[in-house]
Amino acid sequence: MKRTMTSGLTMDTIVSLAKRRGFVFQSSEIYGGLASCWDYGPVGVELKRNVKEAWWRSVVTARDDVVAIDCSILMHPRVWEASGHLESFTDPLVDCKKCKNRFRADQLHELRCPEKPSKRPGECGGELTEARQFNLMFKTFMGPVEDSSAVAYLRPETAQGIFVNFRNVQTTTRKKLPFGIAQVGKSFRNEITPGNFTFRTREFEQMEMEFFCHPSEAEKWYRYWLEERFDWYLRLGIRKEHLRLRDHGRDELAHYAKEKGACADIEYLYPFEKGGRWSELEGVANRTDYDLKRHGEFSGKDLSYFDPATRERYHPYVIEPAAGADRATLAFLVDAYDEETIISAKGKAETRVILRFHPRLAPVQVAVLPLSKKEPLMEVARKLYDSLRVRGLRCEYDVAGGIGKRYRRQDELGTPFCVTIDFDSAEDGKATIRDRDSMEQERVDLEQVFGFVQAKFLGDAR
Ligand code: GAP
Repeated sequence: MKRTMTSGLTMDTIVSLAKRRGFVFQSSEIYGGLASCWDYGPVGVELKRNVKEAWWRSVVTARDDVVAIDCSILMHPRVWEASGHLESFTDPLVDCKKCKNRFRADQLHELRCPEKPSKRPGECGGELTEARQFNLMFKTFMGPVEDSSAVAYLRPETAQGIFVNFRNVQTTTRKKLPFGIAQVGKSFRNEITPGNFTFRTREFEQMEMEFFCHPSEAEKWYRYWLEERFDWYLRLGIRKEHLRLRDHGRDELAHYAKEKGACADIEYLYPFEKGGRWSELEGVANRTDYDLKRHGEFSGKDLSYFDPATRERYHPYVIEPAAGADRATLAFLVDAYDEETIISAKGKAETRVILRFHPRLAPVQVAVLPLSKKEPLMEVARKLYDSLRVRGLRCEYDVAGGIGKRYRRQDELGTPFCVTIDFDSAEDGKATIRDRDSMEQERVDLEQVFGFVQAKFLGDAR
C-alpha cells in the first residue's frame, strides 16, 4: 500500500473532510453550535462503531479470560467518595485577570489565549491567578427535589461500575483469577480546556477493561497489556512512527496508582500543531488493590477473592487498559488520511484524497456503481447491492455523476472496494472490482463478489 502523507497534515484538513463527507458535525450547529460537543454523522457513526467492535473482538470475544458488563451512568454517590474522585479528581485551574478566560495550569505551554490566539495564556497583557484545584465531576440531582440529599454525579470513568460489580460478576461467571471485566460506554468530565476537535470533550466514550490478578503477577500482566494494546493499534493500520509509549513520572500518577502502582500512556502523534504533538490515546495502569479495598471499606462488603487451589484470600490487583473511543476514532481517521497525485483520463494532474482505513474499520466496505442509468445495468446493479447488503456488508449504491467523480467520493470515504456494473455485466454475469489503494481492477463473477469482498474482512479476530 502506498503511503505518501502526512507530515504537512493539519487538523483543519481533517475537520473539513469530516464535515464534508458526514463523519462529524458540530453539535446543535443550527443554533450556533455548543462548544466542544460533536455529533457523528452517517459515516462517522459507522467508523466509531467499527472501532468499538474491533476493540470488543480483541479484548472480549477472542479471549476466554475476559467477560463484559454494561453499568448505569448514574451510581450511588458513595461510589465517588470511595473511589477518591470527589476528593482527588481535580485539575489545577488559573484565571486570566484581564480576559477572564480559564486555563489548565499544567497545560499552559500548549494552550492559546482565545482573545489573542497568537499568544499563550497570560500573554494578552493580563496576569494569571494562583492555581486552584477544580473538580471535574458533573453534578446533577436525582428526583424532583434539588437539595444535597439528591446530588448525583455522571460517571467520569466506566471503571467504577466494574469494581462495584466485581463480586456479582465473579460469582455468576465462576471465573478464576486472572480474569478481566470490560465495558464500553459514555463518561463525562467538566474539562477546563476542552478542544482539538473530538480529542478532549466533556462527554466522551471509553473502552475500559479491568484485569484482576494475584498481586505477585501484577507486573507481568501490566507489561502484557501495554504490549497487547500497543499492538492492537498497529494491527489496525496505525503507522508505527505515529505511536509511542510514555511512562508516567511519579508526580503525574493517578490517585489510585500513587502507592505501588504504575501508569503509561500510549500516545499518538496528532496533527495539532506543525510537526504533530504527542498526546494520550490510551492509558494502561496498575491500579493495585486500591479500588476493591476502598469499596470494601466504604460499603462494608467483602470484595476479596478466595483462591480454592491455594486456599489463599486476598484483594486482587487490577491492571487497566483504558482507551477512548473518540480519541481512537480520531487517530484512525487522521492516520488513514493520504493524498496522491494522479493523471486523469483527460491527461490532467489531479489530487486524489484517500482514507486508507483498515478494511475492518472502513465505514463503507463496498460501493456498487452502475456505469449508466440505463437498463438492464440498473437492475443488475440493484440486485447485487441488495444481496450484499442483506448478507451484512456495509454498502453504498451510487448512480449520480461520472464514474471518476464517484470513485473520488468513495476514496474520500475510505471504501476499500468499488464494484462497477457495465454494459457487459448483464451478458457475461461479471462485474469489475476496483481496489481503493492500488486502483487495480479485476473482473469477477457477480456471484463471487460477496466472497471476494468478505474474504478481505475475515482473518484473525484480534
Ligand atoms: N479509568 C481510567 C481512566 O479513565 P483516563 O486516562 O483518565 O483513565 C482513559 O482516561 C481514556 O479515556 C484516555 O486515554 C482517553 O482516550 C479517554 N479520555 C479521557 N478524557 C477524555 C476527554 N475529555 N475527551 C475524550 N476522551 C477522553
